[in-house]
Amino acid sequence: MRLWLAPLHGITLYHFRNCLYRHTKTIKTAITPFLPIQEVTKLRVKRWTDVLPENNQGMKIIPQLIGNNPTHFVDTVRALMDLGYEQINWNIGCPAAQITRKKRGCGLMPYPQMVEDVVRLTTQQTSCHLSLKMRLGLYDASESLDIIHRINNYPLDFLVIHPRLGIQQYEGVPDWEAFEERSQMSLHPIVYSGDINSVEIFQQLSSRFPKIQDWMLGRGILQNPFLAEQIVAMSEKPTEDASPYSQRLINFYGDLIETLREHRNEKGALANLKELWHYLSVAFQLDEEEQKRIFRINELNHFIQETAHILNTKNNIYY
Ligand SMILES: Cc1cc2nc3c(=O)[nH]c(=O)nc-3n(C[C@H](O)[C@H](O)[C@H](O)COP(=O)(O)O)c2cc1C
Repeated sequence: MRLWLAPLHGITLYHFRNCLYRHTKTIKTAITPFLPIQEVTKLRVKRWTDVLPENNQGMKIIPQLIGNNPTHFVDTVRALMDLGYEQINWNIGCPAAQITRKKRGCGLMPYPQMVEDVVRLTTQQTSCHLSLKMRLGLYDASESLDIIHRINNYPLDFLVIHPRLGIQQYEGVPDWEAFEERSQMSLHPIVYSGDINSVEIFQQLSSRFPKIQDWMLGRGILQNPFLAEQIVAMSEKPTEDASPYSQRLINFYGDLIETLREHRNEKGALANLKELWHYLSVAFQLDEEEQKRIFRINELNHFIQETAHILNTKNNIYY
């Protein structure tokens, strides 16, 4: 069994990934949040700080691209291969309206020929190990059937499936029956992504899908950075730091703050921490009033002080 870190745009950037890896090594591989493809003349890969090898010395990363033009896709893949990456992931699952309306991300799923065109050109013209991250479809789950049927003909690395429709965004429950059907139909290894927020949910899913070896954790890690370790501890001997999780979370949070201070300005660091607290407030069961109070804060040190108080005084549902 392998556990992966999901790409979460604006959150699981290199500061977060490096910090997570310093505090727990159970997750060894991450797909990065998406980067837009560019034609060769516009490519400025050196500015892509999130994927520069010098910023990624811990967890192994697979850069993720978004876009739909086959030639620009190949140009961008080549530039990333020049940085040393052999594996590239393509996002055809992002449901944000500003992305889908340009036939990018999940907006491509109703157009299987366009998907196939990118896959064909990339696998013909580059030696990269290409993988896809997709949903069931934008409007209808039949979209993924058509796409899987076509991409089965190409040498892909793996396929990540988040079993929701794009129009659902993140609402409702994943469609596990549809996931099962697609994982049986695919000739490529499958990585499952969606709603693994607790050890119990992981156990239910892994017993329902015994053939799945690869599991991606996203929002669950934001709520509980040690979730992967807890999952492994249920099935294997724990090998990591045996201090209480509450103390380890405090250490992790302190390190993340230092890392953000070093790499981002005050506004950027505060925005990043607030993103994280959308998830940590679930773990600490903050009521509406408490959430309003912290999200209203506009000053980094004040925010840190208040959230550190929560970490030190409130119960966390995961420990
Ligand atoms: C805030 C946010 C940002 C996301 N950004 C990306 C992204 O950049 N690329 C991608 O493929 N998926 C992205 N996703 C989808 C996640 O990778 C994942 O598939 C989805 O959240 C379901 O898994 P989870 O329930 O474990 O979070 C994002 C999801 C959220 C909530």
